[in-house]
Amino acid sequence: MTTFASALAVCTALLTSAAAFAQDKLPNVTILATGGTIAGTGATSTTTVGYTAAKVGVERLIEAVPELKKVANVKGEQVFQIASENMTNEHWLTLAKRVNTLLAQPDVDGIVITHGTDTIEETAYFLNLTVKSTKPVVIVGAMRPSTAISADGPINLYNAVTLAGSKDAVGKGVLVSLNDQINAGRDVTKANTSTADTFRTPELGFLGYMQDNKPHFYRQVIRKHTAETEFDISKLDSLPQVDIVYGYANNNRIALDAFVKAGAKGIIHAGVGDGSLSNAMKPGLVEARKAGVLIVRSSRVGNGIVARNGEANDDELDFVVSDTLNPQKARILLMLALTKTTDSKAIQKLFYTY
Ligand code: SIN
Repeated sequence: MTTFASALAVCTALLTSAAAFAQDKLPNVTILATGGTIAGTGATSTTTVGYTAAKVGVERLIEAVPELKKVANVKGEQVFQIASENMTNEHWLTLAKRVNTLLAQPDVDGIVITHGTDTIEETAYFLNLTVKSTKPVVIVGAMRPSTAISADGPINLYNAVTLAGSKDAVGKGVLVSLNDQINAGRDVTKANTSTADTFRTPELGFLGYMQDNKPHFYRQVIRKHTAETEFDISKLDSLPQVDIVYGYANNNRIALDAFVKAGAKGIIHAGVGDGSLSNAMKPGLVEARKAGVLIVRSSRVGNGIVARNGEANDDELDFVVSDTLNPQKARILLMLALTKTTDSKAIQKLFYTY
């Protein structure tokens, strides 16, 4: 071999091992795909409504963002392929178990879940209460289908993988990241039917930004989450039935009575204002409570604390208040609470803890 050829061989070997070393140092992030608009396709590049969600598989989502290789060693798993309005308690149990299994492995540093945006906030809060790890779990979606001009899925996925591989995201609870923002699973909500900046944590504020290929955190949630929670879903394959009844002018108790008759173990009342109960609804809730159904007063307003013994005498009626949880999140906490106890005082404590 000439001197030049052997020098070239040494350089190539050095470059190859440097590349392997750099790849070894990257975090290992698993992407669990569940469907949604991020995996949606439209008829044309300008179709941003009326498209079909949950069409593109996880491998294609990963291939569409080659830059992911620079920030993590990424693996993909297709867990479901659904539009998120079809998410069920059973899907959540399957997903939480898979996340817990993966995070217990030393070679998994973080998880990204691709998800439809319509119920992202519910899945995020469910996992926030049932994942038993401090490793990052980031849920991501998109508001425009993968075939649209300026689809937001690729940049959202890139940011989510970066966030899930970051040490800064450890111990922060389940996070929701879209539109360059990082929100807490407990507090985030979808606030616009169709714009890309739909995810908000109204009043309490989001946790930070994704910028320049890294997370920038400015606040964190102090309510208990993930590894600190007392809920164990590892042996469950269903959850107690909890339904939501809505407060509005000219209110009635028809839906409430139907839910109770159908076997609801708990009812979330999405009341007007500070969780007020109409004269038409209140007797139904009182009867349901006497029959053993747990009643949680929440609010349809979207912000603020539902005051205990404010708009109803909760001590006397043996009701629970949802604190700041919106009705759909209160439903999740009540279902999990009912897997542990039916004592209303203990359940109230859980609402002030999580
Ligand atoms: C869905 O939630 O599955 C459809 C809507 C979306 O992902 O934005």
